[in-house]
Amino acid sequence: MAIERTFSIIKPDATARNLTGAVNAMIEQAGLRIVAQKRVRITREQAETFYAVHKARPFFGELVDFMISGPVVVQVLEGEGAIAKYRDVMGATDPAKAAPNTIRKVHARSIGENSVHGSDAADTAKQEIAQFFAGNEIVG
Ligand code: CMP
Repeated sequence: MAIERTFSIIKPDATARNLTGAVNAMIEQAGLRIVAQKRVRITREQAETFYAVHKARPFFGELVDFMISGPVVVQVLEGEGAIAKYRDVMGATDPAKAAPNTIRKVHARSIGENSVHGSDAADTAKQEIAQFFAGNEIVG
């Protein structure tokens, strides 16, 4: 399988509970390498752009408000089949439906406050990484 990069966000519910290290340990234990990482507060405009695909959904306003409610950690993860692998490590969007030992099963509070985001495909990974990182900030 090819070496890929995917984009990850450790969300405000997780940073508020000091879970950055715990989440990173699960990422690294799965064989993914954190090749870029920064803790930031994203703006409303950045959140609206990032989640533009969900603009028509009833939860869009709530999602944007939540993502700007506290610091997040944005990351680039690298590894074999990193996009699908990270989705496995995160577990289902709704923590009630997530498999045991996944980040969301272990740490998430609800479908909205679900601790992490990960890209869903190669084209979105590329786009999401480019929204937050310059090429020279990613060190593989
Ligand atoms: P994420 O992987 O970041 O992508 C879109 C996000 O929308 C998703 O995680 C959830 O946090 C959020 N989301 C999806 N469905 C709902 C919902 N029904 N109510 C609130 N938030 C939702």
